[in-house]
Amino acid sequence: PGLDVLAKRAGLLYFGTAIDNVVLDNKQYISIARNRSEFGQVTPANGQKWMYIEPTQGVFNYTLGDQITVPATRAGQLKRCHNFVWHNQLPEWLTSANWTKPALVKVLENHIKHEARHYYNDCYAWDVVNEAFDDDAAASLRKDIWLDTIGAEYIELAFKFARKYTRPGTKLYYNDYAIESVNNKSSKVAAMVKDFKKRGVPIDGVGLQAHYTVGRAPSYDAQMAAHKLFSRLGVETALTELDVRLQLPDNSTAQALQAQVYADSTKACLDADDCVGVTVWDFWDPVSWVPDTFPGYGNADIWDANFTKKPAYYAISDLLRSY
Ligand code: G3I
Repeated sequence: PGLDVLAKRAGLLYFGTAIDNVVLDNKQYISIARNRSEFGQVTPANGQKWMYIEPTQGVFNYTLGDQITVPATRAGQLKRCHNFVWHNQLPEWLTSANWTKPALVKVLENHIKHEARHYYNDCYAWDVVNEAFDDDAAASLRKDIWLDTIGAEYIELAFKFARKYTRPGTKLYYNDYAIESVNNKSSKVAAMVKDFKKRGVPIDGVGLQAHYTVGRAPSYDAQMAAHKLFSRLGVETALTELDVRLQLPDNSTAQALQAQVYADSTKACLDADDCVGVTVWDFWDPVSWVPDTFPGYGNADIWDANFTKKPAYYAISDLLRSY
C-alpha cells in the first residue's frame, strides 16, 4: 500500500503532494502523482496563484489550475487549493498601480469571488491568506501591497470574502512557514486566530508549511507544541508543504537524517488531535523549489531523480504502518 492508504489507516484524512505544471509531460512523474494509493490529496504548486489566474485585471484564466485539479478529481484525490492572497506571484497590473483602499478591497473581493466560484466543488480547503507575517524578531505583519494599502484588515476581509464565495464546508486556512514550533511568529498567528474566533471572522485551519532543513528542523516535541497551540483555539491543522532540504552533495548520512525529520514531523501530525493530513511540497527531487532559492541545498523530496524511493519515503511508510 502507498502512503495515502497507510495514512488513512493511521487516522489521517490524506497524505498528499504539491504538483507543478512544469512536469505534467513527464509520464513517470505523472504515474506516481496520480496514484491515489500514494497521494490522496493534491495541491497546485503554482497553478492557482494570482499572476496566472488573473493575469489582466478582470480577465480570468484557469488553465494552469485546471491542469492540476481536473486530473486530480478524476483520480479521486482531494484538493487543497492554494492560494487567494499572498505577497508573491502577483501580476504586474496589481503591483504597479497606486490603489486606494476601497479600490484594492474591490480587486481583492472580485478575485476571490471568481476563483472561488470556478473551483466551487473542488477544494477540501483553501489557503486564504499565505505568509502574512514577516521574519523579523517581532514577527510583524509583512509590509506588502495588502498591508500598505488596506491595512491589517485585509486578512479578515479575505477570510470573509472566502466564506462568502466558497462552497459551505470548505475549510478556510491561514498558511505560513516557520510556525511549526512555539515562537514569536506562531504566537502572532495564534493571537490572530484567537481574535478571529472571538469576533466571528471565519477561519477553520492553520497550515504549517514545514519547509525544513536537515540539522535545523524542530523536534517532534516542538512540533507537537505548535499543533496544540492552534488546536486549543478550535482550528484544525495540517502539514501543508513538507520538505526537508539538505546540503549538497548528498550522502547516506544526510539522507538518514532527512528520513528522520520526515518521520518525526509526520508523527507529530499523527499524534496531534486536530492535524488532518500531510502534504509534501512535491515528491520528486528535480522539481523542488529549493535549489533556486537556497543555492547549495536540494534533494529535499522523497523520490530521487531516478524515481527511486528514498529512505525518507520508507521512514514515513514504516511510521504509518506502525499506527
Ligand atoms: O512558469 C515559468 C516557466 O514558463 C519558465 O520556463 C520557468 C523557468 O524558470 O519558470 C516558470 O515559473 C516558475 C514557477 O515557479 C513555475 O515553476 C518561477 O520562475 C518560480 O519562481 C516559481 O517558484 C515557485 C515559488 O513558490 C514562487 O515563490 C515554486 O515553484 C513553488 O513551489 C513555490 O511555492 C511556495 C508556496 O506557494 C508558498 N510557500 C513557500 C513555497 C516554496 O517557495
